[in-house]
Amino acid sequence: MHNLKGKHIVLGITGSIAAYKACTLIRLFVKAGAEVQVVITPAGKEFITPVTLSALTSKPVVSEFFSGKDGSWHSHVDLGLWADAMVIAPATAASIAKMAHGVADNMLITTYLSMKAPVFIAPAMDLDMFAHPSTQDNLAQLKRYGNIIIEPAEGELASHLVGKGRMAEPEDIFTFVGKRLAEKQAPETLRLNGKTVLVTAGPTIEKIDPVRYISNFSTGKMGYAIADACAEQGARVILISGPVNGLETRYKGIEKINVVSASDMYEAATKAFPSCDAAILCAAVADYTPARCAEQKIKTHAATALELTPTQDIAAALGRMKTADQRLVGFALETNDEQEHARAKLKKKNLDFIVLNSLRDPGAGFACDTNKVTMLFADGKTLDFPLKDKHEVANDLTDQLCALF
Ligand code: C5P
Repeated sequence: MHNLKGKHIVLGITGSIAAYKACTLIRLFVKAGAEVQVVITPAGKEFITPVTLSALTSKPVVSEFFSGKDGSWHSHVDLGLWADAMVIAPATAASIAKMAHGVADNMLITTYLSMKAPVFIAPAMDLDMFAHPSTQDNLAQLKRYGNIIIEPAEGELASHLVGKGRMAEPEDIFTFVGKRLAEKQAPETLRLNGKTVLVTAGPTIEKIDPVRYISNFSTGKMGYAIADACAEQGARVILISGPVNGLETRYKGIEKINVVSASDMYEAATKAFPSCDAAILCAAVADYTPARCAEQKIKTHAATALELTPTQDIAAALGRMKTADQRLVGFALETNDEQEHARAKLKKKNLDFIVLNSLRDPGAGFACDTNKVTMLFADGKTLDFPLKDKHEVANDLTDQLCALF
């Protein structure tokens, strides 16, 4: 059982039949020592009464913008600052849609928009609503905004003979959120406290003419997860990001520098590195760029060959700049003779360790939410990891980085 003594949890309840399960969830949080403030939507109150909820939390339930009794204003901004976590369980398709689009027409959504703490969302609806592209798009959007979606594990779904969309069990939500909260420590005990970490992420775009470019399939998910994992350990994080599709970090304090081309990324990274303690180079930087970008759109029949010139290797440049106090981590995405190629890159770029992922492993590499990596160290050590969520991989990487200081 996690010790959540002194932790503040805002529990958002929306209008689903699973609302009754919020009672169990509250009891688990309260038993673990947390204070729980319920914010409920008007539809939520049709499923469970505020009287039950306030009895369990020992706090008045917040539902309206103004108190019915004395007209005083309920401050969603204060709740956003008070909370260590916001948990929305159950979250209906309608509330998920409103959150994804900022439709702040009730106290719960308003509180969500003011929230400074991590937000956990447990969807609850029938399979058709859950599977609808609208709902899936909204959930994907919420993930990109840094929210954490809690769904039942596959095994659990099978054992309950009901489909996806069903809310995760209160015990599982409690364990998930509790683990994350228990990990949050005092700043001085965080392992990267006082350190500055540079992270590069995403693809680069190399322009051919005003309408065409060369790029790759990198989404930036791995790099953004690493930026968050370092921030979670107390680091000041500078994230140099190539063009990504609406992706956001969970930690709002991360200093993000947006770049487009390999040359922009090189400039930004070499400028920032001297003031950093470590750099983690996760970006999929183009190795070649068009020798020149045509001013006008190249006519369909005018071009049969494209002249390319090599870009500068950022990792190698930082490897040359690196002082004895700095650490440098690179990535290698390989398709064959993986370890051999990765070891060669580790050496050539003067890295402390390199994170190898192979496109031969299903679920690894670009675009997916999971990755399977091997870490190869300058001292010859090799660590193999199983297939994991990219956030877990980011935690493993951060652990190894911390051990090098
Ligand atoms: O040589 P390769 O591109 O496979 O090396 C991958 C590693 O080098 C990654 O860490 C990547 O971010 C980095 N890299 C870089 N600048 C380049 C090319 C790769 O920083 N121009």
